[in-house]
Amino acid sequence: MTEANTTLSIAIASGKGGVGKTNLALNLCFALHELGSSLILLDADLGLANLDVLLGLSPEKNLQDLIGDATAENVVIPLAGEGFVLLPSASGVAELVEMDEEVQGLLLGKLDTLFRQYDFLVLDLGAGISPTVLSFAAMPQERIVVITPEPTSLTDSYALIKVLFTQRQIKNFQVIVNMADSEKEAKNAFTRLAQACERFLNLPISLLGTVARDPMVTESVRHQVPLLKFAPNCQAAQDIREIAKKILERRTRLKDLIARSPILKPLI
Ligand SMILES: Nc1ncnc2c1ncn2[C@@H]1O[C@H](COP(=O)(O)OP(=O)(O)OP(=O)(O)O)[C@@H](O)[C@H]1O
Ligand SMILES: [Mg+2]
Repeated sequence: MTEANTTLSIAIASGKGGVGKTNLALNLCFALHELGSSLILLDADLGLANLDVLLGLSPEKNLQDLIGDATAENVVIPLAGEGFVLLPSASGVAELVEMDEEVQGLLLGKLDTLFRQYDFLVLDLGAGISPTVLSFAAMPQERIVVITPEPTSLTDSYALIKVLFTQRQIKNFQVIVNMADSEKEAKNAFTRLAQACERFLNLPISLLGTVARDPMVTESVRHQVPLLKFAPNCQAAQDIREIAKKILERRTRLKDLIARSPILKPLI
């Protein structure tokens, strides 16, 4: 019998583009790593290889090579110390979604062996509600939807939640409000989204945390250095650390549930 799973998989999604998914995915991983967790970060945005750019990397291999005979160890890129790696994906992501069941099963098996070595699998998703984005949002155990206080972000994130709920029966959504100018503005944004989900879908969602709008984020992107390294004490970095603590607590709390669920659910 295979050992019980201990890896918590989390997709970082949004409806609207440019709300801060990639930055949050990367820096939440750094924060969780600071807290002693091991992580594998999967770039599941096939449109633009954003994580590569944020880190100033140009990977030679990606997820697609795993379909061939590359071993997982040859494909992952170490990011920090022990147990924090990036799995670049490029177009392999789209192919995984379109694969027939047998090939997908084989690849998911290979990936499962790799993912099991880490405490967390974090997936950085693309924007929009294309079938690929929806599949990658539906496969992990948990989803974090990133919103900003802008009205277009709220309508787009509602559209994402609605289609995942109605078409893929996904019920657990957590929200991070990013680029908030005040705590009040962030709370208002979350409340508006939560009320729409409650009223039209009868679906409760929860607020995981808020990240302030902080000029250091843009600076860190320009320097291709993760925020937590570039400006470890700025407001946004502190906010991200707070959220990482909550995610860590959740993993402990959900231990039994995690043990019973696959790291990535196969797509049917
Ligand atoms: N908390 C913040 N404060 C200020 N600026 C921010 C913050 N978070 C993100 N940004 C800005 O928003 C830009 C877009 O962020 P990011 O690339 O992470 O978004 P994304 O949601 O991944 O975009 P895409 O949908 O294109 O993948 C960053 O380059 C940065 O300049
Ligand atoms: Mg991105």
